[in-house]
Amino acid sequence: MKEPVLEVRGLSKTFADIHAVKDLNLTILQGDVYGFIGPNGAGKTTTIRMILSLIHSDSGTVRIFGHDLHRDFRKTIAQVGALVESPAFYPYLSGYRNLSLFGDLSGGVNQARVREVLEMVGLSKRAKHKVKGYSHGMKQRLGIGLALLHSPKLLILDEPTNGLDPQGIREVRNLIRRISQEGKMTVFLSSHILSEMEMVCNRIGIMYRGGLIAEGDVDKLLGGEQDLAELKTDEADRAKDFLEKNFPGIRLQIPKAGWLEFRKEQWDLSKINRDLVQAGFSVHSISARRRNLEDLFVEQTGDSKDVY
Ligand SMILES: Nc1ncnc2c1ncn2[C@@H]1O[C@H](COP(=O)(O)OP(=O)(O)O)[C@@H](O)[C@H]1O
Ligand SMILES: [Mg+2]
Repeated sequence: MKEPVLEVRGLSKTFADIHAVKDLNLTILQGDVYGFIGPNGAGKTTTIRMILSLIHSDSGTVRIFGHDLHRDFRKTIAQVGALVESPAFYPYLSGYRNLSLFGDLSGGVNQARVREVLEMVGLSKRAKHKVKGYSHGMKQRLGIGLALLHSPKLLILDEPTNGLDPQGIREVRNLIRRISQEGKMTVFLSSHILSEMEMVCNRIGIMYRGGLIAEGDVDKLLGGEQDLAELKTDEADRAKDFLEKNFPGIRLQIPKAGWLEFRKEQWDLSKINRDLVQAGFSVHSISARRRNLEDLFVEQTGDSKDVY
């Protein structure tokens, strides 16, 4: 049985009349890359701020490695590295100098560790360059490097890919994978981009309007089966009518223009393809796929995918 690293119980926070977090429970286990996902405004940052004791909670407890956050604050928080907002670096100093300085401030960080962290976040080659010349993605990786500097056992990242371009997102994703593969750290990261989390996380919690609507292993939540089918055609509306008439009981949706989606169930995809083509429709693709986090989110909330 894996040990719980972070346990949140009954956590709540209200801002004036906004109930930002309601009686929240989370369990993050040793070695997890835990994705804390949900749309903007769901309460992710507020939760993370409470976990880090940056703001007070109205009620509830946070335990990190079995210690109560408030009772053993210094000891507990020393094991945590976090990136909540983009950190402020000295732009006219190099990445190396910035990390050295922050390392000196927090103590116990030597030059070898600074070099090791720069290597880890893929900035070794640019370490001597001024931060003002770094891309947004590089600054973000330097921020993650800063969080890693004191060798935390739990790394907490709030929307680490926010505002990055696709290249930057890939870099951060690869970095999180590398960190987790080394196996010494547990990672808790938030994002409102579901597809991104599916690629790096083994466990997730879905946050919605201040509460958790699902938590568990990604594979278990999504199932291993290819139980959804999707079909691309020029005339989705007409094709939907045609299929409903010819395949009684089939439940079709049009998730986006030109696409039909349905539960695969007993339906024979090659027959559907053949019948559509014979009836004069052009079918650009038809395939089965596994449910993804967006499907799960829509099932759980009834909200459309458009909220993302
Ligand atoms: N300091 C604050 N004062 C008032 N309302 C806040 C404050 N921080 C967050 N909120 C509100 O709490 C809710 C949750 O916000 P937040 O935790 O930032 O969500 P997320 O990080 O999931 O996007 C939102 O409705 C937001 O407007
Ligand atoms: Mg946020």
